[in-house]
Amino acid sequence: MPQTKAVLLVHLYGWVREMERWMTFCKRATIHLLEDCAEAHGAVWARQHAGVFGAWGAFSFYPTKNLGAKGDAGALVTNSAEIASRVKTLQNYGANKRYEHLETGLNNRLHELHAAILSTRLNWLDQFNAGRREIAQRYFAEIRNRRIQLLSAPITVTSENSKPSPHDGHASRRRSPAASHVYHLFVVRCAERNRLAHFLKEHGIKTSIHYPLLAHHQNFPEKRPLRSARSSKRRISCRTLSFSSMPSAAS
Ligand SMILES: Cc1ncc(COP(=O)(O)O)c(C=O)c1O
Repeated sequence: MPQTKAVLLVHLYGWVREMERWMTFCKRATIHLLEDCAEAHGAVWARQHAGVFGAWGAFSFYPTKNLGAKGDAGALVTNSAEIASRVKTLQNYGANKRYEHLETGLNNRLHELHAAILSTRLNWLDQFNAGRREIAQRYFAEIRNRRIQLLSAPITVTSENSKPSPHDGHASRRRSPAASHVYHLFVVRCAERNRLAHFLKEHGIKTSIHYPLLAHHQNFPEKRPLRSARSSKRRISCRTLSFSSMPSAAS
């Protein structure tokens, strides 16, 4: 991969996993590891939270996220002073001092009102995530149709050395877990996905499709060197259906 500069891992649906493999891979290939944590606030692997494994982790605080603001908001976490300083400059029109612009930047400052809401809600994140895990547990227990494939294992592992296993269950939420899924979405696969979605809608159960169009099918105005996805990815994309796991969905 001579031109590859970085691997951007997307912790999709709230699951962070196998980070040691990615860290070793990127270290050997001398490329950066970056994390898209937009769906993984509070998700844990090897007792570490999503966002601390790579050079940086990017979080979305869009209102429906596990930690949501009241409008668009986001943050980047890093332990590199250099990256932090560059990002602070970029988010403020490329200025590191008032009226002194080092480069072309953006207006991406987080509104103080959102920051205040997020700071408070951050205290409840574990509670929000526990609520999502409870909903997921109910889906696991009650979706019994064999034609529906459950994607996300009910992970909360507590023992020091254990690797998460799909069947570890939710033992002892009081101890801090070694790995923990935060179920931003509860996702299933089904060969008759559209029929299933229609059936559920008729029975008052809302589902969504994440994501109907793969990246290389998007109509970017400029051509980007996106390789066409393998047919297995296309097949998966046609079968995937998401259920809400927002705590307000429980009833
Ligand atoms: C995995 C993932 N990455 C990135 C984003 C983009 O986040 P934002 O809209 O806050 O930039 C989202 C939001 O939907 C997401 O789910």
